[in-house]
Amino acid sequence: MRGNDVILENLSMSFGDFVAVRPTDLKINAGEFFSILGPSGCGKTTILRMISGFLNPTHGRVVIGDKDMSGIRANARPTALIFQNLALFPLMSVRDNIAFGLEARGISKKVRHQKAEELLDLVALDGQGDKLPTALSGGQRQRVAIARALAVEPSVLLLDEPLSALDLKLRQHMRAELKDLQRKTGVTFIYITHDQGEALTMSDRVAVMNKGVVEQVATSDEIYAHPKTPFVASFVGEQNIFKGKVVGKENGYAILETSQGKLFGQNAHGLNEGEEAILFVRPERMSLEEKQGQQNGLSAVLERRDMEGPFVNLHMRAGDQSIAIHVTNVEQTHQPLGADQKLWFAAQDAVVMRPGELASE
Ligand SMILES: Nc1ncnc2c1ncn2[C@@H]1O[C@H](COP(=O)(O)OP(=O)(O)O)[C@@H](O)[C@H]1O
Ligand SMILES: [Mg+2]
Repeated sequence: MRGNDVILENLSMSFGDFVAVRPTDLKINAGEFFSILGPSGCGKTTILRMISGFLNPTHGRVVIGDKDMSGIRANARPTALIFQNLALFPLMSVRDNIAFGLEARGISKKVRHQKAEELLDLVALDGQGDKLPTALSGGQRQRVAIARALAVEPSVLLLDEPLSALDLKLRQHMRAELKDLQRKTGVTFIYITHDQGEALTMSDRVAVMNKGVVEQVATSDEIYAHPKTPFVASFVGEQNIFKGKVVGKENGYAILETSQGKLFGQNAHGLNEGEEAILFVRPERMSLEEKQGQQNGLSAVLERRDMEGPFVNLHMRAGDQSIAIHVTNVEQTHQPLGADQKLWFAAQDAVVMRPGELASE
């Protein structure tokens, strides 16, 4: 039956001395669209290969439903895997490509074709079954690959950066399609990507990974608004980063002495006076006019203005501190470059953390 939780228990993987995945505990709920997001080389594919059964973990285990998967071969697991390179069979019709996995399972031709038609319908390729994959667009081929993976009725679909070979426009279009398909089928999707936009738009929950460690698991909104570590804060979305020392604490807020004076933010790591700290504030949380409750004020020089139509990105500088601000066209400034500009942000829109590794650009 469909509807099996995927549970990783103390799962880790080493290649020789190199630890690709540190001991990880994770529960992915049945029917969830779950993404694993992180930079290249952080261990995403390694986790997926352990779930699919193509790689045996060094320690720990994968449980699907209430079944321990240890020792169970990939093709006997209730999972199907889709890679970046789709590897459709070029000389086989779209229909036969989709039905391929069913033939290997000894299912009759009539049933295979019936199933293929249903899946063509599901991925909005009805009437295209007789074509060769080369006659389809990149996005259509991607849908054939998904239909082929779904043909064997997996309860868990594992997708390893499946959109990365497509161009930007198609990639964005396919996000909505994948999400829609996941909802319609109820199959658990475990989706791997280094693209935060993909992870944030499609997922019920996201795990952010760095160097073999899952640093945070939460909804997209939670990851964006309440990152738990400097890496998550800096990898997901844009941030202004101020360095300083804690000089006071007040109702869950920390006061930081920085090169720009005292700044207030949420004391996410419960730091004490005297500790080194960094403060994160997102460009869209900064404003050019003081609004109610914005305790933090700075002065900076306008260096660049990027007009994007409805939004305007301003690049400012205050000494060696660069500051980015995103405002709507309505709120923007028409000051000339080089002009002094006051900036404001609320303490509740800023997060203070213990210093740690940041995501590199
Ligand atoms: N078979 C292997 N032997 C040695 N090192 C490997 C092997 N597979 C992956 N690695 C290493 O493990 C790390 C994680 O790889 P991977 O899971 O593919 O990362 P990601 O998918 O996040 O880009 C990388 O440093 C990679 O070079
Ligand atoms: Mg990978």
